[in-house]
Amino acid sequence: MPRSRSKSNLYYQGGAWAARMILSLTLLLSGVTKAIDPKGTVYKLQDYLIYFDVPSLLSQDMLTAIAVMLCSVEFLLGIYLFFGIRRRFTSYLTLIFIGLMTLVTLFILIWHPVSDCGCFGDAIHLTNGQTFVKNLVLLGCAIVYRYTYATTHKLIGVSLHWLVSMYSILFILFVSLYNNYYLPLADFRPYKVGVNIPKAMLIPEGAAEPEYETTFWLEKNGRRQRFTIDNYPDSTWTYISTEKKLVKEGYVPPITDFSVCDTLGNDLTDSLLADTGYTMMLISPTFDQANRVPVDEINALNDYCLDHKYRFYALTASSMSSVDKWIYYTGAEYPIYFCDATVLKTMVRSNPGLILLHGGTILGKWSGHDLPTLSDGQSVKSIIQDGDNNLRILLKIILYYLIPLLFITFANKFWMNHKHHLNHKTMRQKIVAGNWKMNMNLQDGINLAKEINETLKADKPNCGVVICTPFIHLASVAPLLDKSLVKLGAENCADKAKGAYTGEVSAEMVKSTGADYVILGHSERRQYYHETPEILKEKVQLALQNGLKIIFCIGETLEEREANKQNEVVKAELDGSVYGLSAEEWKNIVLAYEPIWAIGTGKTATADQAEEMLAYIRSTVAEKYGKAVAEETTILYGGSCKPSNAKELFAKPDIDGGLIGGASLKAADFKGIIDAWK
Ligand code: 13P
Repeated sequence: MPRSRSKSNLYYQGGAWAARMILSLTLLLSGVTKAIDPKGTVYKLQDYLIYFDVPSLLSQDMLTAIAVMLCSVEFLLGIYLFFGIRRRFTSYLTLIFIGLMTLVTLFILIWHPVSDCGCFGDAIHLTNGQTFVKNLVLLGCAIVYRYTYATTHKLIGVSLHWLVSMYSILFILFVSLYNNYYLPLADFRPYKVGVNIPKAMLIPEGAAEPEYETTFWLEKNGRRQRFTIDNYPDSTWTYISTEKKLVKEGYVPPITDFSVCDTLGNDLTDSLLADTGYTMMLISPTFDQANRVPVDEINALNDYCLDHKYRFYALTASSMSSVDKWIYYTGAEYPIYFCDATVLKTMVRSNPGLILLHGGTILGKWSGHDLPTLSDGQSVKSIIQDGDNNLRILLKIILYYLIPLLFITFANKFWMNHKHHLNHKTMRQKIVAGNWKMNMNLQDGINLAKEINETLKADKPNCGVVICTPFIHLASVAPLLDKSLVKLGAENCADKAKGAYTGEVSAEMVKSTGADYVILGHSERRQYYHETPEILKEKVQLALQNGLKIIFCIGETLEEREANKQNEVVKAELDGSVYGLSAEEWKNIVLAYEPIWAIGTGKTATADQAEEMLAYIRSTVAEKYGKAVAEETTILYGGSCKPSNAKELFAKPDIDGGLIGGASLKAADFKGIIDAWK
């Protein structure tokens, strides 16, 4: 039972994915093929307007805007479906869009306003019946997706959705406007560069001829009957009419309707195409709507052709009065011939556009916005174009979309990681701890503690604050502090739990004063009191057993830094004393990196030096306890930290605060450092 349920679940999910991908890829294909040729969509929209007898209801610019919008909507829906962006919203929108399009295709199927709806521009031609069936399939997929979208996965994270959306909008707008301004990047029409027009008009030998069925209507004694050639009756029947029906399509050459005539109606097609030399054809379906900006370039090309004995003529479907106007305004001296408007629009998607022919073969096509210029000494061969493969161009467009998308996706991921890193920093506890060392008598210490407490009460800190005092202060200072603002710590504790150790203070005794922290491993204790990693390990254990948090210090000498051994040194200090702790115990450890050469010398490590070391220390914590724990560990910097440099130091991603010596002895200075977190 469960097995069959999981199987049907699999089918359900598979169906949802299939529906999503069929919709996505179809919409992407139709969006891109339209974006490659927005003028084709404009011409198609004009065909619809002509059918409804309102040819000038919308201006050329409005039609272009509709064409660009249509391909953008299709492309964006395709991208949203593909990546799984805003799935619910996309499922509704897709259903509405495909539903409307299905109604349009039903209308086209019934009333035939156009022979091809133009779904895929000129890239794929479908009959009206095929288009309707295609839309019914898509409608089915849209319904399936509407109810199953939640079972399909997002291919990219939500944080990337806005980025992919913005990039896709910009991409499709750029592609469609570029192709509208210049010529379509891929040319799916029969007048592609490289095509020989006379050859493209021929029916090759042996090509399938169209097959027709001929029937005859005859009459006898007032009765009408239909006959074929096989059962044709005798002469007693009277012939009435013949009917010819196409039963099998034959070969249709790519070009069937190229025909040119002059003003008198004389057919010039053969004579023009028979020219074996170079010919430039200026193509303008309607001179009235032609861009007149490049007239000087056009006239210069005509002059060039005259000088080099090449043919130059214009082809148009304009009225005689428009032709006269064009000649008047542009000073055209070249012959102007007539051709069908649809043919001219098919030849080149620009008004005007230019075609270079040689022996009837198309060697180049230009939009009126980038006509070629030829100087006197320049050969016409220098402007010949390569006819690129359409599939290759489509693949290139897909790559042009994908490569920057991958790049910005990675850049975004990198940025998000960085932000995540910073967030972790903000999530980690930030601490400014004072280490009074052996500087205060009891009265001065009490006064300082009071002052710090009052100052922080008046202006709450943005970080944890700890003051670590000599043993003799602890019991007196503890009751003076508001623990929610300032915590108390000792500067040391014994490596023995209890007993006859004259002069020593145990961790338990420290804790009993009300202190929460203890500094261990300070370089001054290692240096002057010969505390070894082993001794420190004992102290760490005792401190933890007594519920104290430890500020564990590490750092290298100047010689060690000059010998570039700082990493090695701090790693050994950690290994020797704290890296044996359990993950649970580790939660009570705050690390403090204090380069010995910077302590009390006024010589601070630069923020970059400090950051480099702290990042290294964090990486060793990550090796030991994992990345998550490392991200949670508070690591301080100590060594000549003062109000003037604290901000720069604390701005570094791995520096979570400071362990302050000299500057913690004056409430104002200490507060200045605490305020660096504000
Ligand atoms: P200074 O801030 O005086 O350099 O001392 C740093 C220090 O040793 C804190 O423990």
